[in-house]
Amino acid sequence: MTTRYRVEYALKTHRRDQFIEWIKGLLAVPFVLNSQPTAAYEEDYDEVKSLQAMAQAVHRRYAEIMRDVEGLVNDHIRHQRLQTTSKLKMLVPSIGSFFTPLHLEAAFVYQDKQRAISSRRFVAPSFNDVRLILNTAQVMALMRPSPLPSNKPTNLTANQSAPHTSNPTAATTTSLQLLTFDGDVTLYDDGASLLPTNPVIPRLIHFLSRDMRIGIVTAAGYTDASRYHARLHGLLDAIQTSPLLTTRQRHNLIIMGGESNFLFVFDETSPSLLRYIHRRDWILPVMHAWNEEAIQSLLSIAEAAFRSCIRTLNLPASILRKERAVGIYPTRSDHRFAREQLEETVLVVQQLLDLSPEARGAGIPFCAFNGGNDVFVDIGDKSLGVRGCQKWFGAGDGDEAGPVKEEATLHVGDQFLSGGGNDFKARLACTTAWITSPQETVALLDEMSEWEGVGIGAASLN
Ligand code: IMP
Ligand code: MG
Repeated sequence: MTTRYRVEYALKTHRRDQFIEWIKGLLAVPFVLNSQPTAAYEEDYDEVKSLQAMAQAVHRRYAEIMRDVEGLVNDHIRHQRLQTTSKLKMLVPSIGSFFTPLHLEAAFVYQDKQRAISSRRFVAPSFNDVRLILNTAQVMALMRPSPLPSNKPTNLTANQSAPHTSNPTAATTTSLQLLTFDGDVTLYDDGASLLPTNPVIPRLIHFLSRDMRIGIVTAAGYTDASRYHARLHGLLDAIQTSPLLTTRQRHNLIIMGGESNFLFVFDETSPSLLRYIHRRDWILPVMHAWNEEAIQSLLSIAEAAFRSCIRTLNLPASILRKERAVGIYPTRSDHRFAREQLEETVLVVQQLLDLSPEARGAGIPFCAFNGGNDVFVDIGDKSLGVRGCQKWFGAGDGDEAGPVKEEATLHVGDQFLSGGGNDFKARLACTTAWITSPQETVALLDEMSEWEGVGIGAASLN
């Protein structure tokens, strides 16, 4: 039966993150009960005191809620190991796997200081407040890890969270080994290049100098290293000349292009500072089964779907077919598609591929996404792209041998909506942070250095 609810769900679910919406709903209750919209902003002593008291009371209640959610996440992690259904899964059916606990209470306290969330009387905790609290909670957990909760299942009640450390200063060393970044909107503005003046450059060099591995996992798919140099030269040139890096640390920068298709490694001897790595030298076991004929037939089905969208939606768009991707872009470079046109195109193409027995039968993963002013279908996706980076950097001996682990990897990106976002799939392979601009990426990296206990020195920022 097609109820109104189901239609609304089908129309909106791809534009909502259910976990964030659920937390927003929990925080809305103390906001509604405690906010004082009638109090005037005055210098009157009693008024000021009452607003301060309100902020303190609301802060306490928001913090309690975040502590309870933190407990539910720990409980969910225990159920993940036991392969049973957690309470959180029942409350938020779309919830995925967590690779680390989240320091949600401490993260709320931190973000409340930055954003004065508890002092607001008219604007309830928002999607962005919760998104940023989750990011902080994740990077706190990575930079100051605490032991994972034990396997013992607990029955959680609203006021009772499982024993866990929400004290981010408890541990001292980071477990993080690999940082992966999306390109457009995450490191530089949409469609732009990473220029020498980009403030993210000294931050990335700082992390490289601390032996962190860095992968740029971008949809931008080029087979030619010079095309990536043209997009990323600010970073590549800075790495080449930085006195803070050893040769080995320079080689810890890699580019995974076309989601999970083309691997390049920093190479100071190459004119473009990047060396192409042949597929046979890095691909994942699952990729060995993909055959070229099936790939091209999947892309042809997608191409036909794009052509039909251009006709039905009357889009002034051209088709771009590549070795491992097909997409549409505006025929006139100054034209901007409406968001609705881009989203409709993604959903139509995704559905046609999902329904096609030929595409399904090939068993080749693909990713249909809205790139801001274009739509692409890429072979593979960012979960495979991140796993490719984990494999490339994997090391260790004996029991420790193998790819970099999920809980030792953080992917930073801007596209985390379930329909139409290509960073969404990275959640299957590692921990993630959802940013909405290159400025937020810089702020996140500074936060990470703060939790690491080593602020990025002024010298490295110059
Ligand atoms: P990302 O944000 O770094 O993942 O880059 C996404 C953008 O790369 C898309 O919006 C496109 O404009 C561009 N792009 C260039 N080549 C490709 C391709 O082969 N597949 C998908 N996107 C591509
Ligand atoms: Mg992006």
